[in-house]
Amino acid sequence: MGSSIYLDHNATTALDPIVRTEMTPWLDAKFGNPSSLHAFGQEARRAVDAARARVARLVGAEPEEIVLTSGGTEANNLAILGVAEGSRPTRRRVVTTAIEHQSVLGPCGFRAHGGGALTVLPVDRDGRLDPAEALASLRNDTLLASVMLANNDVGTEQPVGALASRARELGIPLHTDAVQAVGKVPVDVRALGVDLLSFSAHKLHGPSGAGALYVRRGVALAPRAFGGHQERGLRPGTENVAAIVGFGKACDLAAERLERDATHLARLRAGFEAALLATVPGAVVNGDGAPRLPNTSNVSFDGVDGQLLVINLDLLGLAVSTGAACSSADREPSHVLLAMGRTPLEARASMRCSFGRGNTDDDVSQSVERIARAVSMLREVHQ
Ligand SMILES: Cc1ncc(COP(=O)(O)O)c(C=O)c1O
Repeated sequence: MGSSIYLDHNATTALDPIVRTEMTPWLDAKFGNPSSLHAFGQEARRAVDAARARVARLVGAEPEEIVLTSGGTEANNLAILGVAEGSRPTRRRVVTTAIEHQSVLGPCGFRAHGGGALTVLPVDRDGRLDPAEALASLRNDTLLASVMLANNDVGTEQPVGALASRARELGIPLHTDAVQAVGKVPVDVRALGVDLLSFSAHKLHGPSGAGALYVRRGVALAPRAFGGHQERGLRPGTENVAAIVGFGKACDLAAERLERDATHLARLRAGFEAALLATVPGAVVNGDGAPRLPNTSNVSFDGVDGQLLVINLDLLGLAVSTGAACSSADREPSHVLLAMGRTPLEARASMRCSFGRGNTDDDVSQSVERIARAVSMLREVHQ
């Protein structure tokens, strides 16, 4: 077996050593509570404020528009349940899409069970919304729309900007889950015109345990937890200073490297898909007819079980996944691929490779070789 290759960057990324260096004092000698009045506390407050400014800058927001959270899941829940709680009672309908992450579908479903109405927009075979249908779903009874910027399983991007202007006309807050997009493609909240946007540190070489919700000034949001006055009362609880500091640094690095990384990732992915399609009979790339994140490749292999493939590739030293890490234990095929019109059998025959800035051309050729080996072995066993 050659050395291990990691192609699961949509699940999580390695902490950048520069980020770790920035965090280390906050895991060590520096430990103040940012709410304390003494010098220890005030130093921590300044560190959190500086990180908030960096986080805001990556997405073109003002620091006051950033609510720091524990990650993307919390940001999505706060956006959806917080807007629903703070909205006019005449509006009951939440609009979302069939391919959202569970941290969006979960709170939307929770609202619907509690007596709200829910519209779940379908997608086409490439995982794209029909823009006309999406626009038509924004009506006078809509209290919130939540449409992801880029999908975690296949990488397809959605026309969020086009929806935002219509939503603004109708006074409907528009939330976008940008957890997979931020750090991989340019994201600017003003250019997009969204009201709320979620992102997460561990997807961009920052630490786990930090994330953010952008809340445009003037958007009514109610807290989902109660306690202290931190994050303007919207997210009470003593701040995770080390993780927040790391998040800030990771955002700075992402901004600095965005163009270079995106070009590198797109080149690796193109080489990977071309080699895979040329080497493995019956391989099909999912979602390649739509605009996609540069790093994500979702491939189906006729007659192969994706979970067995992932396990066999792990034994060969290649880390990939069948889709979202948080759903991988439940054996169900990806709801994203099902929404894209694949049969359960087809959806089960798929695998996601997601490249990161540290991957090389050699990783690409080695992984294609390992995938080809594992697929032909699994096909032989099933003959
Ligand atoms: C699209 C998307 N949204 C939300 C999340 C949740 O983010 P976090 O892991 O920071 O809670 C993920 C994580 O995989 C994701 O891919």
